[in-house]
Amino acid sequence: MDKIAQALVAAGRGILAADESNGTIKKRFDSIKVESTEENRRAYREMLFTARGAEAAISGVILYDETLRQSAADGRPFARVLSDMGIVPGIKVDKGAKSLAGCPGETVTEGLDGLRERCQEYHKLGARFAKWRAVIDIAGDGVPTDTCIRANAHALARYAAICQETGLVPIVEPEVLMDGAHDIARCAVVTEQALNALYDELRLQRVRLEATLLKPNMVISGKKCATQAGVDEVAARTLEVLKRCVPAAVPGIVFLSGGQSDLLATRHLDAMNKLDGALPWKLSFSYGRALQAAALQAWGGKAANVAAGQAAFLLRARANGAAALGKWSAAMEKAA
Ligand code: 13P
Repeated sequence: MDKIAQALVAAGRGILAADESNGTIKKRFDSIKVESTEENRRAYREMLFTARGAEAAISGVILYDETLRQSAADGRPFARVLSDMGIVPGIKVDKGAKSLAGCPGETVTEGLDGLRERCQEYHKLGARFAKWRAVIDIAGDGVPTDTCIRANAHALARYAAICQETGLVPIVEPEVLMDGAHDIARCAVVTEQALNALYDELRLQRVRLEATLLKPNMVISGKKCATQAGVDEVAARTLEVLKRCVPAAVPGIVFLSGGQSDLLATRHLDAMNKLDGALPWKLSFSYGRALQAAALQAWGGKAANVAAGQAAFLLRARANGAAALGKWSAAMEKAA
């Protein structure tokens, strides 16, 4: 499993998060006025997974349960399509963020019941890594509570231990949301709390860190904050927090994009990799929206637009692959 974790953060490569639940993909399809039928979801995912050359920048793809059971038009299951390209198939295994009793407005991610059996089945279907996302909101002075941070860290660690037992590399994702009016300093404090709690629990649950990846938010200003920190500050503050909290045994950190614009998600990653050559872990991406938004627009639900959708996806994949090496430049943003 250590080898899979390392392969997922091989130089210049990162992860495509295409694991939107049916509820979330419906929202994305609504934005382009396409009906969210099983066939439309399949066709959209096929467009992404068959983009030729994506494997140069994409090491793994996170799938949703339905997608892992679907096939390309040529009859090959999607997991096979990806592994034929040298891309590792992964699977989202959590059952979503549910309200946390006693903590109004906060959530804990559920899905531990039956997880071992689900992971065993996913492994048989070809998945080799997994994702579980915890959601931590910042609101006012009192949120997040310690209750929320600890409950989510505990669930992430229990999930990670079960994944490793069943042969899947766990990606642990404690996402501190960028919604809200808080400043970057508050985001730094909360992210540090969440990561410290997470690594305490991972230790307690005897998770082998060498066979995990961390998927964190960047340390960033809240979307509604009047003062938006610039690229260099985001890079410096994010690295400061990660260096304090993430053990060197972890092979890689793959950021979520979290609602950042496509370009900022790329520039932030690039700036971090340009800053410091002596980090203990690889810094790469596991973007959903920041890899897909342009492709979704270009596709618009029409078979005739598949090539345009793939070109838009490849542009973002290559830009982020370069950013994972600290070698992105603005010139890369022009379509080839
Ligand atoms: P975004 O990059 O759109 O935040 O999605 C990544 C993800 O998989 C969240 O769990």
